[in-house]
Amino acid sequence: MGQSCPSHRWTSSDRWTDLLVHRSTDTALWRPWPEVARNLSKNTNAVDASLAGFAISIRGNVLLRRTDELRASISPTPVSEIVVEYRGRAHELALKHESHHPTGSIKHRTAVGLLAELDRREPLEPGTVIVESTSGNLGLALARLIRILDCRFIAVIDRNTPEPTVESLASNGVDLEFVNESDGHGGYLLSRLRTVAELLRSEPGYRWTDQYHSPANPRIHQQTTAPEILRQGGAALDAVYVAVSTGGTLAGISAHLRTARSDVRVVAVDAVGSLVTGDTGHKRLITGLGASRKSCFLTSASFDFVTRVAPAETVPTCRMFRQDTGIALGGSSGSVVHSYLCDLERGQFPRRALGLCPDDGSKYEGTIYADKWLDETRLSVEVHRTIEKFRSAGAAFTIGIG
Ligand SMILES: Cc1ncc(COP(=O)(O)O)c(C=O)c1O
Repeated sequence: MGQSCPSHRWTSSDRWTDLLVHRSTDTALWRPWPEVARNLSKNTNAVDASLAGFAISIRGNVLLRRTDELRASISPTPVSEIVVEYRGRAHELALKHESHHPTGSIKHRTAVGLLAELDRREPLEPGTVIVESTSGNLGLALARLIRILDCRFIAVIDRNTPEPTVESLASNGVDLEFVNESDGHGGYLLSRLRTVAELLRSEPGYRWTDQYHSPANPRIHQQTTAPEILRQGGAALDAVYVAVSTGGTLAGISAHLRTARSDVRVVAVDAVGSLVTGDTGHKRLITGLGASRKSCFLTSASFDFVTRVAPAETVPTCRMFRQDTGIALGGSSGSVVHSYLCDLERGQFPRRALGLCPDDGSKYEGTIYADKWLDETRLSVEVHRTIEKFRSAGAAFTIGIG
């Protein structure tokens, strides 16, 4: 199983997709699309160009207050069609790649929503200091957008924040507050929030975007992510898989689906040891997935089913997927794909399933894709055993041929 197919099928009409389709239908030019995307997003000019309209619109202070102008930097992300073979049957899984946002993850949408809301409540002025607790992706998105706003950003991060993320935050002029103390529930979230509270107390002028409570978090996904999913999923869509942390993404998507397409089954993908949907919190290794507390946005009506995924399931899925397709998924995305495999294992075969991929594998080279990390975390034996188990059940992934 490989990636030699020169033509891919894409199901979005956005500019990234157009570019990728153009690439993929030209055999001479063809390269695996993640490589194309990676090169583009490494190219600062390209990224800056894609944010340029946004920058121009917010330089003039008057336009800054127009939420529509902030929203203009969100465009639809592409969907790839994956053929999943398992136990002698072939199934189709659509994956929606949120890494294609200008700041590299689904948190681009969240950051835009949170900043617009903060500005609506009290206008952001040049020099305003904004504080947020983040395990990575939201920090990266806020760093870029806050810089464009001429504001300052203090990111409260922890020792689980991937090295490339820390470097990128620093190079974007972000002030970093490191939290070293675990919160006793398998993560650092509660310790990070304590630090945020201290910062806000120490300087009354500091503003907090508050991804954990702001209604702007789920709302931006209700207004942008969910309609895209429905359009790209089409009439046959009957299952959506979404990773949870604050629960904002899932809550927003679910709110839209419950009214527009109540027939679509919504699957929450959480981490083993997370308190978002579980009752006992313990150490988690996959950044961005799960949390040390309940979500303020989710209720039991927000999803139909939950899969809690362990690192020894996430990592094998990410590795098999990359081996087969050349696409490196991030940890949450690998967990989403694993959750789909769990459904197949249980005899639950969606007619058309869509998995939301919050980011890509570029930040996980030193963890999920590194043998040294597997040894350090003592996951190695279990990961290889799980890969063998899935392979002997015929698990294989191919990029769908258009
Ligand atoms: C890696 C990753 N996993 C999961 C999620 C889902 O997060 P939330 O529930 O906070 O919307 C996100 C971000 O949106 C993410 O970046």
